[in-house]
Amino acid sequence: MTRVLVTGVRGKTGTPLAHLLAARPGIDVLGGSSDPTTVTLEGAQPTAFSWDDASTWAAATDAVDAVYVVRPDRADAPELIDALLTELSADARVVLLSERDADSVGPDGWAVRTEQVVRGSGRQWTVLRPSWFMQVLTDERFYLAQLVEEGELAFSSGGASLAWIDARDIAAVAECALLDDGHEGQVYELSGPESLTLTHVAEQLSTAVGHRVAHREITIDEALEGLRGFERDLTLWTFERVHAGTFAPVTDTVERLTGRPARTLQTFLADSAAVLRRD
Ligand SMILES: NC(=O)c1ccc[n+]([C@@H]2O[C@H](COP(=O)([O-])OP(=O)(O)OC[C@H]3O[C@@H](n4cnc5c(N)ncnc54)[C@H](OP(=O)(O)O)[C@@H]3O)[C@@H](O)[C@H]2O)c1
Repeated sequence: MTRVLVTGVRGKTGTPLAHLLAARPGIDVLGGSSDPTTVTLEGAQPTAFSWDDASTWAAATDAVDAVYVVRPDRADAPELIDALLTELSADARVVLLSERDADSVGPDGWAVRTEQVVRGSGRQWTVLRPSWFMQVLTDERFYLAQLVEEGELAFSSGGASLAWIDARDIAAVAECALLDDGHEGQVYELSGPESLTLTHVAEQLSTAVGHRVAHREITIDEALEGLRGFERDLTLWTFERVHAGTFAPVTDTVERLTGRPARTLQTFLADSAAVLRRD
């Protein structure tokens, strides 16, 4: 058996990754969550794992062959991940979920320091750098989902387009990196197959939800409303990079690694019809 810990198993990439892993024979999937009682994924073993509680790490990483690390977006992420990786056996694989253009994100190179911890861990590592997830349009925990229901896509883009990626495609790449050879020491820039402005996203959403959804351009300050501290700083950097077009370039990495094209927004929306129409 190959034992894989998926941190953030209830999240946008963790859930599809756990499904893919559970469908493969000979894989023991540990579904890491800060509240394991809420993990109900078939084929995944609910596993207590919290960045806030280091006492959960030894059991969660016990005898694992590979770990999918969803980067916690907090100032101490480099230190936390560094400490977690010392729990792993020397030949374990580590796949880190990072983000596009990580080189310029955060104070003192926060995102790159987070990646460097993984690269310097002595483990077999792979870094994933995805663009914006399509799932932010439907995830109840993200502010956009409610707005879409109300017919408004309030988003600060500066007119730039984004190469939105389906989180299921990130999961498919993560599956390859966790289980297959040849991905060690690789940094994968991931995107969907097309770069779309918010106007185009709103048009496609309108068709999918069955009522008009209009893009409303807001300022970055408006996008930061209610946020404080590190979360505010990180969100500011994110929207500045959106305006600069950082998330616009399309890459072919998903197709190259998985052997099939990255999903379009249209496909994602069609597959999400029940959620979008609140069926
Ligand atoms: N969203 C995007 O468009 C996007 C784009 C590029 C990169 N990223 C990066 O991808 C990563 C994930 O972001 P996301 O927005 O997609 O979030 P997500 O994976 O959908 O959700 C966050 C996950 O973190 C887990 N979590 C919360 N508190 C925790 C704790 N104390 N200890 C351990 N796990 C905890 C949550 O599960 P439990 O509540 O079950 O613990 C949840 O599964 C971030 O680093 C983000 O910067 C996101």
